[in-house]
Amino acid sequence: MKKRMLIVFGTRPEAIKMCPLVKEFCKRGKMEVRVCVSGQHREMLKQVLELFDVVPEYDLKIMKPGQSLFDITSKALVGIRDVLVEYKPDLVFVHGDTTTAFASSLACFYLQIPVAHVEAGLRTYNIYSPFPEEFNRQAISLMAKYHFAPTKMVSENLIKEGKAQDSIYITGNTVIDALKTTVRNDYKSEITEWAKGNRLILITAHRRENLGEPMYHMFHAIRKIAEEYEDVRMLCPMHPNPKVREAAYKILGGSDRIRLIEPLNAYDFHNLMNHCYFILTDSGGIQEEAPALNKPVLVMRDTTERPEGLKAGTLMLVGTEEGSIYSACKMLLDNIEQYQKMCQAPNPYGDGNASKRIVEIVERDFL
Ligand code: UD1
Ligand code: UDP
Repeated sequence: MKKRMLIVFGTRPEAIKMCPLVKEFCKRGKMEVRVCVSGQHREMLKQVLELFDVVPEYDLKIMKPGQSLFDITSKALVGIRDVLVEYKPDLVFVHGDTTTAFASSLACFYLQIPVAHVEAGLRTYNIYSPFPEEFNRQAISLMAKYHFAPTKMVSENLIKEGKAQDSIYITGNTVIDALKTTVRNDYKSEITEWAKGNRLILITAHRRENLGEPMYHMFHAIRKIAEEYEDVRMLCPMHPNPKVREAAYKILGGSDRIRLIEPLNAYDFHNLMNHCYFILTDSGGIQEEAPALNKPVLVMRDTTERPEGLKAGTLMLVGTEEGSIYSACKMLLDNIEQYQKMCQAPNPYGDGNASKRIVEIVERDFL
């Protein structure tokens, strides 16, 4: 009988990074695979599932507007328990640091089912930044049996924490696998036409610890730049969180140079990243994709768990203060030498074969 793999995720970035793994398992056919989505995200998750043509066997549909960490944790924990009891998987895959990943790992721990953690080892060692993700990933590491680390650099965190060497595998990041299937050099869209002849800046923001005042500071800096530079066009696909939208409409609304739009599907977003001048974000995944596309990223956070991008020179941590974000944008727009230097940094996140490596390891050790 084939071993049973359950792949669990719930948000947009997990979906983008887990769909390549689902596809790889299905392509090789040596394991039985089922997908369970918590539905922590709704529309943003649907966009990814449709793009990659993945149909989950289980959908817990837990999202509600303005959900709290209590809502997500409790609903996911109980929902996943029922799936585990019904399907009885031999191994459960979770990804990264979301509350879906944490609650799923906890459910597995309670039922003593082994967990494989994809994108393991990332750390800031500041439990409140990012919040609650730093806690989630440390807790998942405690519960996981297999740790699939994207880079050697972050695998060292796991070693320092005392994980057994033979439970850690360095695989690259599956986000590069996804990018390989989406980016086309001849991509054109209504947005590329709108921005033609100008420098396009992509903006995203959603982190829980940035909601409220920090986000207002971030958006004020962005507005100032849009008003100062005639040749700049800014595109902000807004996270559906009502708190993000309120700040975006209030500070960034009503400018001809800024477009506030619905979240893009990953195909359009990846291609627009490839097309843009630089990116301003507090996102995690975008920090990994940008180096592969040679695009500078100004990271609107005080910490990052992605030191590879900082070391390579693609990322610059600019905090959430209006002044520091404004100065960093000006530097990138005015100083072509500095800009080029950031563009030429190497991609530390692998060759796009991370999913293949993970499946080969599981087949080798688990069959
Ligand atoms: C979650 C993850 C975060 C990840 C992010 C990726 C946790 C605690 N947070 O944060 O680690 O970086 O996803 O985007 O796991 N909403 C919708 N439709 C959607 C998605 C969200 O309407 O498809 C709205 C809802 O009002 C929801 C709110 O956004 O309550 C916040 O969603 P939630 O998943 O709680 O937090 P994120 O900030 O998305
Ligand atoms: N992304 C997308 N559409 C958008 C904005 C982002 O598909 O409008 C993708 C992006 O390419 C990356 C992922 O979403 O792969 C990042 O998700 P997010 O920033 O929501 O979460 P994080 O990575 O911070 O956890």
